[in-house]
Amino acid sequence: MSFQILGTGRYVPEHVVTNDDLAKLVDTSDEWITTRTGIKTRHIATDETASQMAAEAARDALARSGVRAEELDLILCATVSGDYIVPGLACLVQREIGASCPAFDLNAACSAFLFLLETAAAYISTGRYDKVLVIGAEQMSRVVDWTDRSTCILFGDGAGAMVLGKGDNYLGSHLTVRGGDEVLRMDTLPGISPFYTGPKSHPYVQMNGSETYKFATRAVPGEIGALLEQCGVEQSQVDWVICHQANRRIIEAAARRLKGIPSEKFLMNIQEYGNTSAASIPLLVDECCRKGLFHEGDLIVMAAFGGGLSSTACLVRW
Ligand code: UT7
Repeated sequence: MSFQILGTGRYVPEHVVTNDDLAKLVDTSDEWITTRTGIKTRHIATDETASQMAAEAARDALARSGVRAEELDLILCATVSGDYIVPGLACLVQREIGASCPAFDLNAACSAFLFLLETAAAYISTGRYDKVLVIGAEQMSRVVDWTDRSTCILFGDGAGAMVLGKGDNYLGSHLTVRGGDEVLRMDTLPGISPFYTGPKSHPYVQMNGSETYKFATRAVPGEIGALLEQCGVEQSQVDWVICHQANRRIIEAAARRLKGIPSEKFLMNIQEYGNTSAASIPLLVDECCRKGLFHEGDLIVMAAFGGGLSSTACLVRW
């Protein structure tokens, strides 16, 4: 037993920041950002917090799945930019939507939503959990260094959610972690201990962009190839690919390597939202659902990569 997706939901802040807006803050241009990343705009929180966005996405997913908050058996959230370290985002959402089930967070950076799906599948497989709410929610605008042009132009805020129930539509997954902090990192608080003399922390996103890029363009197709082989599915049978939206060029490079999947099957909304980290996959899935793009029986590959370093892919039958 695995799960089926009963409904999806979302929240994105109203405030839209264009590339030209960013060019007033840092030394960049619409032309550079568009050609290097494919991003044109991002939604940025003005008074919303990650937990408020997560709760709105959760309410939306519950309404669209016809499930009441009281029926939930588990809430799982993924974030690197939650309101607090303690309590976790999932606990805040639990209170906000009026649920009473267990709730906890998981951190796997931009790959986290697929780790959530894997975790939810494992819980549902025990037979003790039926309805599981999974949410990726990020207020990345709180954790980027707005003076660093190489990172602040990339990220956006938002939340995406899914309500999962017992079913057989999660067909397989492939998860890889290559542990290390050299390429992509976000430190915790600097601390004020009078006894500590070790290295100082810088609690904002720090990234070696070109190393992350090289990793992603190899890891994404590698992960999808391994997943399909494991599931005994040909590339030509795949109906849609939902990749983590970090850079249009990364997705296009992955598509070029996966020759059996036509490039138009790789769906994108990065132009509007930028990289919303753990929220990017559920936001895109929700958008495609609303557009009526997915049909019953469609084979959908989801693939992500991020800090860890990690790379993941899973196969879902719609
Ligand atoms: O969610 C997972 C995490 N993140 C990612 O997936 C990001 C992966 N990496 C990338 O998407 C790309 O590496 C970036 C978009 C971040 C950068 O693109 P790039 O083509 O790899 O550029 P680069 O880092 O090699 O920099 C090229 C030049 C540099 O100038 P010099 O040294 O050649 O004079 C940078 O200083 O571009 C400069 N640059 C900028 N110029 C204008 C870096 N950021 C900017 C900017 N505007 N915003």
